[in-house]
Amino acid sequence: MTGSRIPGFYRLDLPARHEALVDRFGLTEADLAVLVSGAGLNYERADKMVENCVGVFGMPIGLGLNFTINGEDRAIPMVVEEPSVVAAVSNMARLVRPHGGFTASADPGVMIAQIQIVNCPRPDAAVEALMGARSRLVALANAIHPNMATRGGGAHDIEVRRFEAPHPMLVLHLLVDCIDAMGANAVNAMAEGVAPLVESLTGGRVCLRILSNLADRRLARAGCRIPEAALAGNGFDGRAVAEGIVSAYEFAAVDPYRAATHNKGVMNGIDAVAIAMGNDWRSVEAGAHAYAARNGRYESLTRWWRADGALHGSIELPMAVGTVGGSTQVHPTVAVLRRILGVDTARELAQIMAVVGLAQNLGALRALATEGIQRGHMSLHARQAALAAGAEGALVDAVAQRLIASGNIKAEAAKTVILELRAEAEK
Ligand code: MEV
Repeated sequence: MTGSRIPGFYRLDLPARHEALVDRFGLTEADLAVLVSGAGLNYERADKMVENCVGVFGMPIGLGLNFTINGEDRAIPMVVEEPSVVAAVSNMARLVRPHGGFTASADPGVMIAQIQIVNCPRPDAAVEALMGARSRLVALANAIHPNMATRGGGAHDIEVRRFEAPHPMLVLHLLVDCIDAMGANAVNAMAEGVAPLVESLTGGRVCLRILSNLADRRLARAGCRIPEAALAGNGFDGRAVAEGIVSAYEFAAVDPYRAATHNKGVMNGIDAVAIAMGNDWRSVEAGAHAYAARNGRYESLTRWWRADGALHGSIELPMAVGTVGGSTQVHPTVAVLRRILGVDTARELAQIMAVVGLAQNLGALRALATEGIQRGHMSLHARQAALAAGAEGALVDAVAQRLIASGNIKAEAAKTVILELRAEAEK
């Protein structure tokens, strides 16, 4: 059996869910052990990853289901602690699925290395000298990381940016196609490697040599189209839901206070996939928010509009992610999750992450524009409150049900309910 649609997955117990993983994705017993029993990232390995290591931190892994992306099914591993993120994204993927699924595209993996040049005696001449030495600079950068160029990528161009008073400086950009790597190490090494030549060309002093997280040459995009009638539900007709979603988008388009929350919801899904795939989610976050502010005001990363009786959505954002290098090959759990997702290239991964961001946003806006966010979150929050109050096993759901019935979903209330249930059981 293949595909991303596994009806009733959320109702299965863990062994049955694992059976589905074996059936669909060919996981082995050893792979399954990595997912649950601490056979994944152990202390010895973690100790090699960071300094002063004192342990290993666990997070839930959920599967985002029902996705069709460019005509292909994808089950998407997501590592996230917040309830509702995985459920919402899977529901939205199910909604979009019968209507052509999601489309997505991604640019080649071009990163920008920045070389800051200060104290240039003659900035005009320095700009000219740098532009005139384009081929030398590119060749020198590629000599520092020859493998990338051999594989068809590597440094391929430069740009010079000039800043005036109060902080006059030149900034050289080296454009480097990192192919399937996120590329931070290679790009930083190249920036450091060309610095002496840059100093001799400009007569200035090189200060910083580091990649830019505003990876706007490495954009990922996704889109979807849902007939308005398909959006009907919970007492709302489809057109009203579509209008509500568009109006929610317009709020984020005009107001940075709302855009911050709107984009936080987008990143709920994107970060969860970044973590599952062993990628640097802070870098993806930094790129997303800087890109959202590219027009001089912080704006929505997504767009929603109505046309031809359908709701249309799109997203575009930098996606500096890799499928080789960094911790993608160090963390044993990442290797198993990669097999579930079935991606080889960074561009495929970037497309999938853009889709998840769009779907996550659709889920949030649909809930916010109709019944509000709290109702859908209730049972998951109730379970968290029960856990926080010390409930375990079957008690968790029993406590959660009572909390929902009482309408008071707080850890304090959960403590009282636990005592009540224990007292009832002893009667
Ligand atoms: C919560 O994690 C995310 C939302 O606030 C996103 C949004 O408001 O669009 C629900």
